[in-house]
Amino acid sequence: MMPLEKRGISSSRLILGCMGYGGDWDNSPLTKEDIRKTEAGVEAALASDITMFDHADIYRMGKAEEAFGTILASNPQLREKMVIQSKCGIRFADSSAPGRYDFSKNHILSSVDGTLKRLSAEYLDVLLLHRPDPLMDAFETAEAISELKKSGKVRHFGVSNMNPGQVQLLQSALDEPLVVNQLEMSLDKLDWVDQGVYVNHADGSEVSFAAGLLEYCMLHHIQLQAWGSLANGKFSGRKFPELSESEMKTLQLVEQLAAEKNTSREGIVLGWLMRHPANIQPVIGTTSPERIKNCQDAIQVAQEMTREEWYSLYVSSRGRNLP
Ligand SMILES: NC(=O)c1ccc[n+]([C@@H]2O[C@H](COP(=O)([O-])OP(=O)(O)OC[C@H]3O[C@@H](n4cnc5c(N)ncnc54)[C@H](OP(=O)(O)O)[C@@H]3O)[C@@H](O)[C@H]2O)c1
Repeated sequence: MMPLEKRGISSSRLILGCMGYGGDWDNSPLTKEDIRKTEAGVEAALASDITMFDHADIYRMGKAEEAFGTILASNPQLREKMVIQSKCGIRFADSSAPGRYDFSKNHILSSVDGTLKRLSAEYLDVLLLHRPDPLMDAFETAEAISELKKSGKVRHFGVSNMNPGQVQLLQSALDEPLVVNQLEMSLDKLDWVDQGVYVNHADGSEVSFAAGLLEYCMLHHIQLQAWGSLANGKFSGRKFPELSESEMKTLQLVEQLAAEKNTSREGIVLGWLMRHPANIQPVIGTTSPERIKNCQDAIQVAQEMTREEWYSLYVSSRGRNLP
């Protein structure tokens, strides 16, 4: 059972990441084409039983949420069918300072108000703190969380890109459980597996994943969500100017397995992540309706993937044998 289900959140196995919707990363107004593209993505997701959506206040300078909100405003019946997650805590550079993180109470509360307005929604199912703020005062952040919960504006809370100590510190100030940790994990970004494999091995010094993080989240029923889960299309058809030898081999192996199993390449790439016993929930960042549909193949692939297939993909992408 997925940790989110244990918390009473009936989310889908996959999440549609909405960072690609809403036009350019600037303050230009949304266009009809931006909204049409978002509609097509949402439609493809729902048709593939993907009912959870991942946003952030910063995506496309707020326009990803705004485009999504236009759909909800004209189809309010959709809201109850969806699990909507957004994030706050990253601030763009402005006249007062460079780009920065902000977990202050004022910033969190005003960010959520902005998100709800743009989404045309009365509540968020899940709010994540986007990236650790070195100046976080856990008790101040907890006050914001408690206020959002009491007001009904947010139902559940989680974090993103945090290590076990950071999660524990914040949790110690909260009355309710943190339910999500969203991290970069994919067949291309392997640190999440390598970290466990390299315990007691010098080669592990370059792994950029906190020690014991997977196990910490599993033990505390914190849902692991994978951003970048499609490896940016590297193994599923996107043209990259240059691929290394191991990337080429992995691409070929993904293609071979997809052909053997009569499934999509996206199904293999995501199925590999989901085969891991941590019950990882991939956040898929594609805006292509066809690719969104292909992603759903991963559920079956994960159920059927053998240990040998899983290790073949892992070792191929690592580009060297295990210690
Ligand atoms: N918590 C965090 O710090 C954090 C950071 C980054 C992202 N996220 C979330 O995670 C989601 C996914 O992450 P992501 O978008 O970075 O990574 P991703 O899902 O691995 O990659 C999505 C990108 O790859 C492209 N792509 C995939 N397959 C392709 C193919 N066959 N051919 C051409 N292009 C292909 C997509 O373009 P098309 O749209 O054309 O398919 C899109 O630009 C985001 O939407 C966001 O919700 C969270």
